[in-house]
Amino acid sequence: MRSFREAWDEALYGSDGFYRRERPSAHFRTSVHASPLFAAAVVRLAREIGARQITDIGAGSGELGKAVEVLAPELTVTGIELDDVLPPALTGLVIANEWLDNVPCELAELADDGVPRYLLADLGPGEVVEGKDLAWLERWWPLAEPGDRAEIGVTRDAAWADVVSRLDDGLAVAIDYGHVRAGRPAYGTLTGFRGGRECEPVPDGSCDITAHVALDSLGGTITTQRDALRALGVSAGRPSQELARTDPLRYIAELSSAGEAAELLDSAGLGAFGWVWTGSGADVVRRASRALVV
Ligand SMILES: C[S@@+](CC[C@H](N)C(=O)[O-])C[C@H]1O[C@@H](n2cnc3c(N)ncnc32)[C@H](O)[C@@H]1O
Repeated sequence: MRSFREAWDEALYGSDGFYRRERPSAHFRTSVHASPLFAAAVVRLAREIGARQITDIGAGSGELGKAVEVLAPELTVTGIELDDVLPPALTGLVIANEWLDNVPCELAELADDGVPRYLLADLGPGEVVEGKDLAWLERWWPLAEPGDRAEIGVTRDAAWADVVSRLDDGLAVAIDYGHVRAGRPAYGTLTGFRGGRECEPVPDGSCDITAHVALDSLGGTITTQRDALRALGVSAGRPSQELARTDPLRYIAELSSAGEAAELLDSAGLGAFGWVWTGSGADVVRRASRALVV
């Protein structure tokens, strides 16, 4: 039987796979869909580092690019989707929002004899984990008790390393649900989404399949979305009561914007996402460090 990773890959990206047929926004809500304030923060980051070009990896239906175009026509946005080839050099700002959690990875579970085994397409135990996968588990996600399960980040690390290796005077930011070694979830995070709801992650092409990202193994500087967006000027502050009296329409618009900001910054939701960033070029790194710190 195939490994769960192979089945997952086919289910999402095979010829009739989920992402060949479906639009992500029909099944779940990302920060891009939640509010144009997210695109505004991306624009601000691009301007802060002096970028004229944004590359959006795993762009879905290109909603981020469309929102950026409205806010900052001087910026060029290139969306990268399935079958697009990454350019050899990436300059400017590279954003990958909720891409890596959809990069299929091997699953492993500690068996009763204390040995980690791969999980197969039906989530039953397979071969003993070996080689690069075992080295990754031991370094990044050691399993303690029989029944503990890990999502082995080797494929995500490789996908991200490929992006970072192409950076030429630019900044790459991976934004995703995630965890670090000090707080891995004992039984993993494998989940399915269909029609806006969580469902069983069955790799049959009927649903999205996702697992949170081991952010620290990607390499780079980690911050939370809450801190990054606050540094980039997103605020959930309520407009004043005075504004309600003097300009009620503006008050309502600002109140609605504050509600959207609160969703993006929510420490129990989108605000808890990790932003993992790597810069190339001393000037970009200096400017990004300044822009992303509250
Ligand atoms: C969860 S959606 C995120 C869409 C969008 N970034 C957003 O935030 O709304 C993940 C997207 O990554 C795309 N994707 C997955 N693997 C990819 C790859 N190797 N190259 C380009 N896009 C990929 C999928 O097709 C899907 O559209």
